[in-house]
Amino acid sequence: MRTFAIAASIAVLALGLAAPASAQSPIVIKFSHVVATDTPKGKAAEKFKELAEKYTGGKVKIEVYPNSTLYKDKEELEALQLGSVQMLAPSNSKFGPLGIREFEVFDLPYILPDLKTLRKVTEGALGLKLLKLLDSKGITGLAYWDNGFKQMSANKKLITPADYQGVKFRIQSSRVLQAQFKALGSLPQVMAFSEVYQALQTGVVDGQENTWSNIYTQKMHEVQKYITQTNHGYIGYVVIVNKKFWDDLPADVRDQLAKAMKEATDFNNAQSQKENDDALAEIKKSGKSEIISLTAEQDEAMRKAMEPVYKDAASRVGQPLIDEFQKEAKSATN
Ligand code: LMR
Repeated sequence: MRTFAIAASIAVLALGLAAPASAQSPIVIKFSHVVATDTPKGKAAEKFKELAEKYTGGKVKIEVYPNSTLYKDKEELEALQLGSVQMLAPSNSKFGPLGIREFEVFDLPYILPDLKTLRKVTEGALGLKLLKLLDSKGITGLAYWDNGFKQMSANKKLITPADYQGVKFRIQSSRVLQAQFKALGSLPQVMAFSEVYQALQTGVVDGQENTWSNIYTQKMHEVQKYITQTNHGYIGYVVIVNKKFWDDLPADVRDQLAKAMKEATDFNNAQSQKENDDALAEIKKSGKSEIISLTAEQDEAMRKAMEPVYKDAASRVGQPLIDEFQKEAKSATN
């Protein structure tokens, strides 16, 4: 019996050694994110899966876990560093707890007039420099994916800066966003994305800021009476992988994945605007939330009220970085 078992395991071993590459089990990449599949990031993650599996001829299998089904905001970054998950795409606003504050420069109110300017920054030297900061945390930054501009929602009409006084807002884990709401006299509260809907529904917080696609796919418009079209800030993502995992991949596989990532990025950035436009149209159609537009004067008053955030952020992300960002952004509009 024992001899048989030994013989059998030797045979299995020999088979394993002689097995052709195609019979080997694929390299699995778990890609976790917190939004719905039907969003810019959700769709881009699916696109990356499709292309990565195609280009690697099945050597790599991508398992996408949307909607915080695997990890929530803070946990997912810890899990990536531990190697329990290989790929994520957190928003720029979520790197602070990791000790990397610089991505919060993207959170500065009104720093980006449009997506064209954003691309100029992310695709230029500054974008690359920021990605490099992740190396020291055992993380490799692969790409920037857009979402879009944020709107303010609450159960009261938010028109003038005074309307924000004393309102409890859910924020992402960014000190710049905290400063933004403090400048408005609001009470910001950091909360995982997965908990926002319920917190709004039960009144744990009164309001939140997000893109149209996130508001719509999380059904926030069903529990918020008003959404003010402020476009005051930006949400976008950094696609990241565990550095050791990435560096240890066979070179040909890494190249194929990089190609898939490049194409998924182009795909994402070509459709993010439309996703948000469509979500806005759906929210309007639902009639569940009143959409408020600001006049030029009201918009100006909001900009003025949020100006102090720049000074506050200088001590956080550094004035030279803010200057460099604004210089690159300006060169895009010229
Ligand atoms: C949020 O937490 O509001 C967003 O960053 C969620 C996301 O990933 O778009």
